[in-house]
Amino acid sequence: MTASMHDAHTPHRLDVQLGSRSYPIVIGPGQLRQGELLRSWLPGRQALVVTNETVAPLYLEPLQAGLEGIDADTLVLPDGEAHKTVASCERVWDRLLERRFDRSCTVIALGGGVVGDLAGFAAAAYQRGVAFVQVPTTLLAQVDSSVGGKTGVNHPLGKNMIGAFHQPVGVVADTRVLDTLPAREMAAGVAEVIKYGLIRDAEFFAWLEDNMDALLRRDSAALAFAVERSCANKADVVAADEREQGVRATLNLGHTFGHAIETATGYSSWLHGEAVGAGIAMAAHVSVAMGWLAAHERDRVVRLLERAGLPVMPPASMTPERFLELMAVDKKARDGRIRLVLQQGIGSAVVTDAVPADTLGATLRHFTGEA
Ligand code: NAD
Ligand code: GLY
Repeated sequence: MTASMHDAHTPHRLDVQLGSRSYPIVIGPGQLRQGELLRSWLPGRQALVVTNETVAPLYLEPLQAGLEGIDADTLVLPDGEAHKTVASCERVWDRLLERRFDRSCTVIALGGGVVGDLAGFAAAAYQRGVAFVQVPTTLLAQVDSSVGGKTGVNHPLGKNMIGAFHQPVGVVADTRVLDTLPAREMAAGVAEVIKYGLIRDAEFFAWLEDNMDALLRRDSAALAFAVERSCANKADVVAADEREQGVRATLNLGHTFGHAIETATGYSSWLHGEAVGAGIAMAAHVSVAMGWLAAHERDRVVRLLERAGLPVMPPASMTPERFLELMAVDKKARDGRIRLVLQQGIGSAVVTDAVPADTLGATLRHFTGEA
């Protein structure tokens, strides 16, 4: 990987190396309109584009224009995390069955992580698994959720609790579509970008320190580079540990604290990336307490999060007790022990259940004003 920005107008291709299930990620401005490539990934002539009512008016038409010669139908769902449900999947399955789409059909997800996760799960289950293409339209989806094959929906008793690993046959990340993304959603995606620098790519972290302003103003070259470098990091981790038996869990830096914040606030007032931002700051604090991260490195982490416009403190309503209660149900927890992803310097991370209770308690008190 190189840390210099390349010509933003040339599309870049990366491959997620998973043997017979390997697939390309194509990144660059205007890629949404390049239907030829997308068509070449389809195993058959039938395709269902799943999108939502916010994204459809913006980007459905250029995508459809590239599907010439394909028997393509469209399902437009309501917008929002509240619709990432089995009921929305049923709407996908209903349409596929009404159209008599067979096992050679493809589900194309056009949207953010909500559409990608639910369309991917619908594809995983339809006739025991059909092809699926990701066309991510948020920064978070382009750098994280569209790559790696985690698909699923929410259950009333837990977020992302119903799902499957189902890799796409290809990902098209058109960086120009991010021009219409609200600033808050952009910052939320940047949290996941910063995460890659912190867990395994110190050079990228330094690049982000130098280029955060360009990234936030959606400079073409900065965006293309940040998406490509993030995807390259994610592709490496997924290739090494597709089913999250080990290193893939480091992608959850900040997420244990973040999920507690999201759950406590009812998944309504805080965006996922915002909660992850505060969670990364909290994980850095614990890492310093463990002697694994220098205080000046933690300060660099917090400064970069702040420059991205991300919160670095949890909401005032959180207490240490509420954090502990919610963190205990994290998917990484084993035998009732909380497992955290922590920094070992900038550019390296570990998953550990070795944090003493009083060390974690001191961090929770610090961040909830009870210290
Ligand atoms: P989202 O899909 O809700 O999109 C955010 C908002 O932006 C929505 O209102 C959407 O309609 C709108 N939008 C999308 N593209 C736009 C564009 N180009 N211009 C203007 N508006 C646009 O949220 P998200 O942050 O993309 O994804 C969050 C979801 O991703 C969560 O459900 C989370 O669980 C999931 N996720 C999955 C993985 C994974 O590995 N599968 C990883 C991280 C997050
Ligand atoms: N977003 C975490 C993962 O894909 O594993």
